[in-house]
Amino acid sequence: MAVVAILPVAGASAGDPERGWELLLSQAYLPADFDQEVFDALWTVWPEPLRQQAKAASVDQRRLLAMERYGLQPHPDDPSRSLQYVVSADGSWSMSCLACHQGQVAGQVVPGLPNSTYALETLTADVRLVKIAQRKAFGHMDVGSLLLPLGTTNGTTNAVIFGVALMQHRDAGLNIVSRPPRFDLVHHDMDAPPWWHYRKRRSLYADGFAPQGHRMLMQFLLVKENGPEKFREWEDDFRHIEAWIESLEPPRWPGPLDQQLVAEGQGVFREHCQRCHGTAGADDDYPEVVVPLADIGTDPVRFRALTDADRLALNQSWFGQFGEAAEPLGARQQPDGYVAPPLDGIWASAPYLHNGSVPTLWHLLHPGQRPAVWRRTPAGYDDQRVGLEIEEIPVASFAEQLAAGLAAADRRQVFDTSQPGKSAAGHDFPAALSEAERVALLEYLKSL
Ligand code: HEC
Ligand code: HEC
Repeated sequence: MAVVAILPVAGASAGDPERGWELLLSQAYLPADFDQEVFDALWTVWPEPLRQQAKAASVDQRRLLAMERYGLQPHPDDPSRSLQYVVSADGSWSMSCLACHQGQVAGQVVPGLPNSTYALETLTADVRLVKIAQRKAFGHMDVGSLLLPLGTTNGTTNAVIFGVALMQHRDAGLNIVSRPPRFDLVHHDMDAPPWWHYRKRRSLYADGFAPQGHRMLMQFLLVKENGPEKFREWEDDFRHIEAWIESLEPPRWPGPLDQQLVAEGQGVFREHCQRCHGTAGADDDYPEVVVPLADIGTDPVRFRALTDADRLALNQSWFGQFGEAAEPLGARQQPDGYVAPPLDGIWASAPYLHNGSVPTLWHLLHPGQRPAVWRRTPAGYDDQRVGLEIEEIPVASFAEQLAAGLAAADRRQVFDTSQPGKSAAGHDFPAALSEAERVALLEYLKSL
């Protein structure tokens, strides 16, 4: 008995994808983080020259500047609001799943694409300053961020540890219980995966320890304001949300492709990559291989941050159990490394690896040339190297900037691979290929 029983995916039959999308845009499942008055005053705490620029701008322009600073996108129906927050009739803004799970690439909003620009920590820090000035009470996020880092590099978040910290205060039925806070949490930032993989996967997360299902998707609602009854009440909503996630298709590469190279690249892929990643497109040919840490060699912090007890607590709770007898701790719940993800639509979901440490596919294919310290341009897309357009910062010059007192918000724009949990090492398989093979493989990866 190695693998836990795979439970049927309820959303496939039970949910309505369109309804799921509507709920994601309109239903506030979390208490509000701030109100419109706070959002509209955020510019007053910005550094110069941004503040002067905002001061001279109209209210609508200022809202767009604010969304840019915090990595949010304007709502298609109402550009004064953000796609990532639900704004209630009274003007209060609540974070939604889309905060981390809806982004854009090369100026296009692609359904299910992770938000690689979200600056949650910077937003929360600015909100706190404005609330102090406006004499308003702190919300759960303002307090939470004093206890836990929210995300030390923009576009990535400490989301896994939010889940572990919140689960500490629940029993298996999600009743709120009083237990001491955890002091052994290993904070680390993760790059959210694209949602269009969901239909191919049978388990969830970088190490694949959680079975799929609409209940598992509700973990993010564990704040103390949501009692156990709320989870039962919202269960049907999450059948619809799961159906939306399952309905998503990977986006197609928008530019031209060299078909000759694509064909050559496919040959290279079959020989060197397919046994782990499966065939793109074909839903039934994805092996969902878990590669031991020693073989993959990517950053181990995410893997080690969860204990067997953490994995088991989630799986045996209301989220994982579906009322069935709890499964013994099997291979899936006691994994030994990371899952090789599907590569459909891979051109769109930069940065790469679970921690978002590799900015382009070219860098992924050239393990020796991955940048140690880098910063992305605000919205640039690199269609040659396929991924984020970046500026590489020499290590010594970054050290000087830090010594000179680089502001925290600016530091979060920089990905520093020397920090814990942020290594770009590992996945060295492409190093065995010739340069010509890598050129062909890159063209093939664009076509997936
Ligand atoms: C603060 C950011 C954040 C928010 C908000 C968030 N997620 Fe996630 N989500 C993540 C991260 C990071 C991961 C990857 C975790 C891992 O692999 O360990 C993830 C993983 C997932 C996955 C698994 C995908 C896979 O292929 O393994 C699904 C599905 C998902 N989230 C759905 C949701 C839903 C539904 C909501 C809202 C109820 C939500 N998330 C809210 C950050 C977030
Ligand atoms: C032994 C299994 C294995 C082989 C062989 C393999 N990979 Fe991977 N690959 C993985 C695993 C596991 C990950 C996830 C690692 C992580 O996130 O830490 C991964 C991640 C990736 C990613 C990043 C995915 C993302 O969404 O961030 C790409 C791209 C990729 N591999 C391409 C390739 C290519 C191209 C080849 C062939 C040259 C290849 N892989 C060979 C196991 C493998």
